[in-house]
Amino acid sequence: MKKILKINDIYKNFGGIEVIKNFSLSLDSGSKVALIGPNGAGKTTIFNLISGVYPIDKGSIIINDKDITSLPAYKRIRFGIARSFQNIRLMPHLSVIENVLMGQHTLASNFATLFRPIHFGEGSKDKLEAKNLLDKFGINVPPEEIVSNLPYGLQKRIEVVRALMAKPSLLLLDEPTAGLNKEESDQLSLMLNQISSDGTTILLVEHNMRFVNNFVEHTVVLNFGEKIYEGPPLLAQKDKQVREAYLGK
Ligand SMILES: Nc1ncnc2c1ncn2[C@@H]1O[C@H](COP(=O)(O)OP(=O)(O)OP(=O)(O)O)[C@@H](O)[C@H]1O
Ligand SMILES: [Mg+2]
Repeated sequence: MKKILKINDIYKNFGGIEVIKNFSLSLDSGSKVALIGPNGAGKTTIFNLISGVYPIDKGSIIINDKDITSLPAYKRIRFGIARSFQNIRLMPHLSVIENVLMGQHTLASNFATLFRPIHFGEGSKDKLEAKNLLDKFGINVPPEEIVSNLPYGLQKRIEVVRALMAKPSLLLLDEPTAGLNKEESDQLSLMLNQISSDGTTILLVEHNMRFVNNFVEHTVVLNFGEKIYEGPPLLAQKDKQVREAYLGK
């Protein structure tokens, strides 16, 4: 099986505190995997290290056979990584289409073009692509609608569409169902299954175990920055170390 992501023995400390320790993970291309663990375990930090928000102290990160360990974040996007954030990071005062087009903008080939103006011209190729993606995932709102007027569940799906504009081979989603009701999280689940069946690998951080059990085939559990379990989600809940991590000894 082709590996899309290989994280080899990474470490990260903040102010002398080892937040990630000796962490390794290898993802099969096309897989759906959940990274879970108690609050503060280091899950978002792992995403920040993969996407290049922070440099790692030790170890290496390989994506699509390319060592990206020392690449800045904006270059990693071109190697196939896109992400959503723990709290929605859409621009609330901009329209749906403007927000989605920003995802394409992250493909900028260098630091200067990252800041070139976005072209919202009628019928531009990017705009057409954005509209097609919104259609494809059943997001039937006027593209000019201001994002902050929309229900949270819809905003979350728009955030995922924005990430897809970068044509990622690996999609990182940080607590995608947080704040969603059951109907909204079912809609998101449908959308993510569709993305997965198009071949995109999905790694998500999630506290909602119903969602995890239904969506992923593989789970990694983190506690105090270390991997304490890797395997099927249902067995994770029976694992002694995992139970202790959540419930205390
Ligand atoms: N930029 C930073 N500077 C200092 N400490 C940080 C930084 N980012 C994260 N930490 C610390 O690293 C640890 C792990 O945080 P992280 O946000 O990765 O946890 P998490 O597993 O995502 O938790 P949650 O489930 O609450 O989102 C915490 O102790 C946090 O305070
Ligand atoms: Mg987090």
